[in-house]
Amino acid sequence: MEHALEITDLNHRFGIPEIVKIVEGHGGLTKVEVTSRSAQGEIYLHGAHVTSWIPADEEEVLFVSSQSQWNESRPIRGGVPVCFPWFSNKADDVNAPMHGFARTTAWQLESVVQTGNTVTVGMFIESDDTTKKWWPADFRAVLRATFGPELILELDVLNTGKTSFRFEEALHTYFRVGNIETVLVKGLNGVDYVDKNDDKRKKTQDGAIAIVSETDRVYLNTDAIVDLEDPALRRQITIAKENSMATVVWNPWIQKAKAMADFGDKEWPHMICIETCNVGDSFVELMPGQHHQMQAIVRVSNLKQTA
Ligand code: BG6
Repeated sequence: MEHALEITDLNHRFGIPEIVKIVEGHGGLTKVEVTSRSAQGEIYLHGAHVTSWIPADEEEVLFVSSQSQWNESRPIRGGVPVCFPWFSNKADDVNAPMHGFARTTAWQLESVVQTGNTVTVGMFIESDDTTKKWWPADFRAVLRATFGPELILELDVLNTGKTSFRFEEALHTYFRVGNIETVLVKGLNGVDYVDKNDDKRKKTQDGAIAIVSETDRVYLNTDAIVDLEDPALRRQITIAKENSMATVVWNPWIQKAKAMADFGDKEWPHMICIETCNVGDSFVELMPGQHHQMQAIVRVSNLKQTA
């Protein structure tokens, strides 16, 4: 009942007739549904987690696992997890949640703005006693998702405290692909990367990336635009970015897929993560009052067939 009242209240404050609706999603978690002339999309308050983007005349662009556990203590598997304020394991605390606490925190809806045929949904979290259990910083983080002919994701972190802090961040985007074995990821030729599947050895990318086994790589010092060519779905997904100096490419392949409780054993051929991020040496440092905005800008186009 309380939840129903909360949803009614959110609809009064942020709903736009026929375009933006706040509803109960999977597992009773609250989500914002957007249906505009240029795109459909959805974003959960749990983790400020985008789970769908369907530009007009296209199919779903994002992958969400059929095995995702939809509950407050777990991150959603698929879509766009927001990793913050650290990536992977927290260096100084083995008990801290993987990829930070943002993806398992309830964010608050801050704004819904319609501009022409696009809709931007903004959500925020602020430091409190719970976040300080893991990380001492005073901060405010805002996630803005713009659903339109492009999907624009922006993570804006502000230092609200009196001392500087450092953080890592990732927009851990899961893209839906027809067949991982035929996709090519282009744009990172010549870029150095850390190969997490080979003892974190540092290597240099030679040509396009083809996925032929478990792949978990952090591409370093790069702001390059990446093209994901998917001949099976006859489309190309282009990921541009702002204020991000690392890109992670991840596919769990067969064994890791089996080991993950919230991921289907046979789903690995149908997804790839290309993550816009600042991780490792490209961490961000903010002085009091400073903020940092990282953006991922995603577009879809028809794949030009080569003979
Ligand atoms: C990737 C990491 O970003 O996320 C991988 O590079 C990790 O190492 C993957 O396995 C998934 O992480 P999680 O916590 O969502 O299972």
